[in-house]
Amino acid sequence: ESQLVKELARQEKLVIATGGGMVINPVNAALLRQNGVFVYLVADPAVIYRRVKHKEDRPLLSQAKDRQEQIKKLFAARKEIYENLAGFRVDTGQNTPEKAVELIIAYLQDKGELQYFHNNRPRAGRMPTLPLEDVLVDLGNNSYHIYIGQGILKQLVNYLQKLALEADQKIFLITNPTVKNLYGREIAAAHLTGNYQVIWGEIPDREEAKSLSEAARLYDLAFAHRVERRTPVVALGGGVVGDLAGFVAATYLRGLPFVQIPTTLLAQVDSSIGGKVAVNHPRGKNIIGSFYQPKLVLIDITVLNSLDRRELVAGLAEVIKYGVIADAEFFSWLEENLLKVLALEPQALIHVISTSCRIKAGVVQKDEKEEGLRAILNFGHTIGHALEALTEYRIYRHGEAVAIGMAAAASLAVHTGLLAAGEATRLKKLLEQAGLPTVLPSSISGEDLILAMQRDKKVQAGEIAFVLPVKIGQVEIKRDIPVKWRELIIKACQI
Ligand SMILES: NC(=O)c1ccc[n+]([C@@H]2O[C@H](COP(=O)([O-])OP(=O)(O)OC[C@H]3O[C@@H](n4cnc5c(N)ncnc54)[C@H](O)[C@@H]3O)[C@@H](O)[C@H]2O)c1
Repeated sequence: ESQLVKELARQEKLVIATGGGMVINPVNAALLRQNGVFVYLVADPAVIYRRVKHKEDRPLLSQAKDRQEQIKKLFAARKEIYENLAGFRVDTGQNTPEKAVELIIAYLQDKGELQYFHNNRPRAGRMPTLPLEDVLVDLGNNSYHIYIGQGILKQLVNYLQKLALEADQKIFLITNPTVKNLYGREIAAAHLTGNYQVIWGEIPDREEAKSLSEAARLYDLAFAHRVERRTPVVALGGGVVGDLAGFVAATYLRGLPFVQIPTTLLAQVDSSIGGKVAVNHPRGKNIIGSFYQPKLVLIDITVLNSLDRRELVAGLAEVIKYGVIADAEFFSWLEENLLKVLALEPQALIHVISTSCRIKAGVVQKDEKEEGLRAILNFGHTIGHALEALTEYRIYRHGEAVAIGMAAAASLAVHTGLLAAGEATRLKKLLEQAGLPTVLPSSISGEDLILAMQRDKKVQAGEIAFVLPVKIGQVEIKRDIPVKWRELIIKACQI
């Protein structure tokens, strides 16, 4: 053992899990101290007993008559040695493994033992937490804040308290197994320490979960756990979770407070804001729904680290859309900084998400129920929706279909003389840089696409509405697409 310690103590960038016995030997301890930092993982003897009572690979315990007594004795004999050795202690009985890791990292960063990287350069000290962004969605009595930051997921309890939404010390947390495994425990742990009851509403991880039957299952659960008028419904997940949870919140007991914690980029920049909640009908998507605004949206950028690359890129389509419909400067910023966003640089992500939220909030504020202006948010969606329907929602992620739709709409705008060709090229280039598709598959004919567009639920009096750019940063809604444009639409789609 000592021989091994001698070798290891010389090395750098190592985490050594010593076990309790090794450091009792003062020679080992002295060797390790020369070049290392001790962290003492402590736990109450009762916790240790629970962990090891059935283990047979502990030499000092397996021969003992009374294991519990033996643990207490060892603990008493060694406690002082461990405490003198270690500069830092973490209680692993009271903290989750994730929390313990967080505390250790913070300690090491404070000591200057652990570097972090900023702009590819190593830095000493603790990684600075970026300031919180606060976007207000100003809808009179239905106003709410969107908070965007790093690690704010764990502060849900504080936010609920601030909004007086914690009235009956319960939350109805709707999520799916994927997201629950990744982040559910953090939320539950925070709630348990605050003495909250978490009622888990777990739904399948697929679009089909947006159904009346899943909503009915959640109503049953709410009833069984005595969910009351003031129990907040918290949606933790992507757009599927958000849309269904919002639908349940809007309808159970004629409306429960609703909180969104979106975890996909698409949900963070789009579906969690604006209050559209819905389930699907076998004949069409989002057919049964309502406008029901959340009381709060909490966006934690750190959750994007676990998101599938394809999902991230699909969300970027909506981000690029905001630049085209409302903000030329933002579009130029994206042209310059897209790589930083794709590399998930925190500062870039916060900028992208907060700007997108501000643009969407601005539109929703002017037209909450989609009676006019809000339609500009559908740029790329006329063709995008038709393409999704024709491919039965199996080939494209929503954002990918919208990307093809935006490229085609820009091309249509060029053909009809509304947009300069150079602007359409900029859009196509940015979409491609993000890794999004911009061309229709050859298996889909323009005719099929037009028929599918006519079947879309947003078609009014048989007229297909198109949102067309007139320049980057400005679009117009065209409802009176004349028949002669049919050829142009087909042509635009084939570019
Ligand atoms: N209400 C609106 O205004 C609005 C707007 C746009 C889209 N939508 C709806 O949103 C839905 C699509 O949402 P989506 O694109 O977020 O898809 P999604 O909810 O299906 O999520 C995509 C996948 O990512 C997983 N996931 C979520 N967060 C994760 C994380 N942090 N790490 C790892 N995996 C994670 C999910 O489990 C899922 O498998 C559609 O139903 C669409 O109709 C609604």
